[in-house]
Amino acid sequence: MIEDKAFQKQLEGRLHYLCVMEPFLVFEQKLQKSIDQESIQSMRLVDRSRSDMEIKQILVKAVLLKKGFRLQLVYRYQTKDITKNLNKKEAYNALLNHAKHDYKQITLTMADAEILLSKNPKGKYIIKERAIASTKKSGSHDHQKHRLIKSDRSFLHALGVTDIDGNIKKDKQAKFRQINRFIELLDSKIPMSKSLKVADMGSGKAYLTFALYDHLASKKLDKLEVVGIEMRSGLVQQCNDLAQSLELDSISFRQGTIQENDIQEIDILVALHACDTATDDALIKGIQSNAQLIVVSPCCHKQVRKAMNTQGALAEITNYGTFKERQAELLTDTIRSLYLQAYGYKVTVSEFVATSHTPKNILIMATKGQNKNELVDRTILDKINDLKSQFEISHHYLDQYLV
Ligand SMILES: C[S@@+](CC[C@H](N)C(=O)[O-])C[C@H]1O[C@@H](n2cnc3c(N)ncnc32)[C@H](O)[C@@H]1O
Repeated sequence: MIEDKAFQKQLEGRLHYLCVMEPFLVFEQKLQKSIDQESIQSMRLVDRSRSDMEIKQILVKAVLLKKGFRLQLVYRYQTKDITKNLNKKEAYNALLNHAKHDYKQITLTMADAEILLSKNPKGKYIIKERAIASTKKSGSHDHQKHRLIKSDRSFLHALGVTDIDGNIKKDKQAKFRQINRFIELLDSKIPMSKSLKVADMGSGKAYLTFALYDHLASKKLDKLEVVGIEMRSGLVQQCNDLAQSLELDSISFRQGTIQENDIQEIDILVALHACDTATDDALIKGIQSNAQLIVVSPCCHKQVRKAMNTQGALAEITNYGTFKERQAELLTDTIRSLYLQAYGYKVTVSEFVATSHTPKNILIMATKGQNKNELVDRTILDKINDLKSQFEISHHYLDQYLV
């Protein structure tokens, strides 16, 4: 009940009572009209007086899917969320039913007004309304106009980056910036083609896979296919469910390792923070596939660290664990960049996000300068061999596959 009071207080002062004989009937009409006219933006149904409810709350958001206007209902259970996209009629019936039978506090937000319907302990309905200039809270959307991925995108809400109103959650600010930075860096390098096949190796929870899909989908290509490869089956299932709930039919996730996956004819290959040599496996797939754009952000660099055996003056660099780690990182990624150049790629290296967010922030981007997927510059192999011999690196993971 304390929560109940806080909820009321939060809205009081701005809301005014609608003195009507039939509050629920008025609400019903407003709901129907807002759905019919597509002015509904969001809705929240809760019953704060009950802790025993299986579905704690229902969050509703208007979304524009391929099939047109839909209402996305997120059923929030204690440990999981279930999302359903409903057409106008289905949504109206479901929401009316929940409002009638299950929840006591309902907030309906429309383009120009907010309605609060609540039921007091005696079972009597009260309805209040307030006019709003815009439902977008300052500090969320308004400061993000320049972002390529706006915070109101449905996939961000489905992934838990934003709340139902498109406000970025406090603990997801860095993730939101990372997503946008990644898309900004990639944007100018996207191949000029009407048909693109993208593979994201080690896609994990797929924040960046969905972001890239969303960005490419906005380019209205003739054909787009985005595939995430991930060895953890739970994540694959979760991401496929999410794609389905958002009705995105050109993005899918496959379970398996990067090595064993036989995906071919990739135009854009991405591998972000794929562990150790998984980044190399991704590079091999990209080069063999003759991908026009390869983007990797390497993670750990264990293979070269172990294969390094510095002597003489250079041994001083590797005397300390931290220095050795950094040296291994530099060498690994330099050799990776050189291999890409040997196979005809133009390589750029940049910092992805500030090192204060993650030390794993190097982004290697390689664009194809010619059409063959074969070794074009053997002199670069000499440079690789020179480096390897100076640092006495017995082998680099890429040697066996790419030479
Ligand atoms: C650190 S997460 C990064 C996830 C995502 N790319 C991102 O940047 O948010 C690395 C992911 O790669 C997956 N992974 C690592 N090695 C892999 C391999 N050889 N084949 C497929 N997936 C792999 C892991 O299961 C994990 O989900």
